[in-house]
Amino acid sequence: MGKKGFIFDLDGVIVDTAKYHYLAWKKLAGELGFEFTKAQNELFKGVSRKRCLEILLKIGNIEATQEQFNKWMVEKNEDYLAYIEKMDASEILPDVPRVLGFLKQKNVPIALGSASKNARAILKKVELLPYFDSIVDGNDVSKAKPDPQVFLIAAKNLHVDPVNCVVFEDAVAGIQAANNAGMISIGIGDANILNEANYNFNGFTEIGDDFLESLL
Ligand code: BG6
Ligand code: MG
Repeated sequence: MGKKGFIFDLDGVIVDTAKYHYLAWKKLAGELGFEFTKAQNELFKGVSRKRCLEILLKIGNIEATQEQFNKWMVEKNEDYLAYIEKMDASEILPDVPRVLGFLKQKNVPIALGSASKNARAILKKVELLPYFDSIVDGNDVSKAKPDPQVFLIAAKNLHVDPVNCVVFEDAVAGIQAANNAGMISIGIGDANILNEANYNFNGFTEIGDDFLESLL
């Protein structure tokens, strides 16, 4: 036993930003002369921006110079940020504030563990920043999920032993990262896809206070 800590992924767990990532990648693909489908966008969940562009160029069978690569990374992010700019609290996924509020009221430390370099900007837009005792994002890590680095840094910042951390994740690589960190993993989404998780739910509306209490 010991003090517990809770770590939340951002994209797909707190907010549905995959649709904005998709629109921005699709626009870039269009400019480069090929289609990028919603199904292909699934492969981008939990994956770093750089890796996403590598995969995108592979799909389009496009060779890029370092200079072009960097330019497209910037272009995609600028388009993505234009969508983020318009976000507000109405885009928070159902029951996320209830769960965060429950944990806060129990004095449980809360961290964000995200691959996104835009995490702070998004949390600010949806007005959830005050809930987080630590934010670990794409700017803080050198190794991407499924490497446990992002979650281990979060645990350290919360002063909680990794085995006492609970992670909410919607991506396979994220569940693997949590498992690799020795943490309790909770899959948010399709249980068939997230079958390596310790627990599975379709969304936070399915996660009752009694279940949260049982983890404390
Ligand atoms: C992850 C998303 O949270 O962050 C990925 O699931 C995204 O789709 C990655 O590519 C990096 O995000 P950003 O905001 O730094 O481009
Ligand atoms: Mg995610």
